[in-house]
Amino acid sequence: MQQKLRVLLADDDPVFLRLLPTQLANENFEISTATTGGSVLDVLEKREFDVVILDVDLPDISGIEVLKTIRTLESAPEVIMLTADTSLETGLTAMRAGAYDYITKPADSDQVKELIRKASDKTRIVKQNQRLKVAAATRYPGVQPIFESEISKRIFAEAERVAGMDATILITGESGTGKDVLANWIHSKSGRAELPIVSVNCGAIPENLVESEFFGFEKGAFTGAGKQKVGLIEAADASTLFLDEIGEMPLSLQVKLLMFLENGKFRKVGSVRDQTADVRVIAATNKDLKAGISDGSFRADLYYRLNIIMFELPPLHERPEDLEALSNGFLERFKSKYGRPELEFSNAAKRQIREYNWPGNVRELKNAVERTVALASGDKIERIHGIFESGVISGAVPTESKPELVSLAWLEKDHILKVLEEVNGNREAAASILGITSRTLYRKLKEYRA
Ligand SMILES: Nc1ncnc2c1ncn2[C@@H]1O[C@H](COP(=O)(O)OP(=O)(O)OP(=O)(O)O)[C@@H](O)[C@H]1O
Ligand SMILES: [Mg+2]
Repeated sequence: MQQKLRVLLADDDPVFLRLLPTQLANENFEISTATTGGSVLDVLEKREFDVVILDVDLPDISGIEVLKTIRTLESAPEVIMLTADTSLETGLTAMRAGAYDYITKPADSDQVKELIRKASDKTRIVKQNQRLKVAAATRYPGVQPIFESEISKRIFAEAERVAGMDATILITGESGTGKDVLANWIHSKSGRAELPIVSVNCGAIPENLVESEFFGFEKGAFTGAGKQKVGLIEAADASTLFLDEIGEMPLSLQVKLLMFLENGKFRKVGSVRDQTADVRVIAATNKDLKAGISDGSFRADLYYRLNIIMFELPPLHERPEDLEALSNGFLERFKSKYGRPELEFSNAAKRQIREYNWPGNVRELKNAVERTVALASGDKIERIHGIFESGVISGAVPTESKPELVSLAWLEKDHILKVLEEVNGNREAAASILGITSRTLYRKLKEYRA
């Protein structure tokens, strides 16, 4: 069902205040009333409205003055003025002061209904534009996921099944296993896909800014808050908020996020008004959140609130069918990117892909295939560049003379030289990657030269 349009009706005439709501009773409106200009401004501080209907003659502050004040509030509702004056003049003054339109009393209820709908559409469009601006800044390029393994097929099938629900989802998995890809894919399969997903890396926002990034702030909330700011939660209204690296979220924000997840309400920094937002949350982490709970850096209650539905993406080397499909998919992609349609993997390269354990998962595979395609000289890719722990020998000796089975010492030397090549001969860096001291590396290199 569509959300009710929230209307604030302000008039000091008690008969009119009773009459109009009765005439509008069958509509999808939620009508609140006020009798003074002061109380209109008070109520607007505390609650959100789509439209305000305001009488020009109010007992305390003139309706026009109230209108002018409302127009200075950012993301303010549109205002329809009521006037008993049949001459054009008051209406024009109201329009000049920023009214959406005006109605001359006695009000025709059909005209009122029509105006309420139009004005609230405008209010919502203005607010949505503000939100889209924030969301657009966080956009992640859409990736068509590639998967062939049984486990991935099961994950994507289940993800598609729950995509349309509003339940919170937690995605875990090592770095580079495809958590972003899955989160974006779920959003794209949900009823919220028309709006962009709002993504945030919880580890990347400085702790002192985190609250205002999430919740936004009111004009004047602190020094430098010259303009009201729309936060990520508001930007994700009617869409999905992707909380990446949720394990890095500061504890103070975890409490506030939990409160928002419980009741859909939040408050801008410096505001006394609760706002609502209809947000679907998907969180991801490559950390063990249970360990975070044990050491006190992650709240247990938030954890249980987030993992209502949970997906665990296994490391790439545990999904050989995905590995093959992904390496072929990436080869196709980079062949066209680099204008090399003839390129193919040799059997040796295929074996190298199969046997390497891909600690950086899909990200490492993608980068390795891109680098390899960019550097390839012939039609065949003889080896994958820049991966170190392969059981397949490459690089140090020409591929043709490559022995099938080699000694450990040969493998060690080959590996050390490859690492050195990769770090441009920097021995400190190579030693640290290899997990040996620089002295040991120095000694081994001397042996090789001998
Ligand atoms: N199933 C897939 N199909 C196609 N590309 C994929 C797939 N999974 C991952 N990728 C690609 O691999 C890279 C890493 O994926 P992603 O960013 O989703 O990993 P992640 O798990 O979020 O990593 P991190 O924990 O470091 O944030 C991206 O370039 C992504 O496009
Ligand atoms: Mg990620």
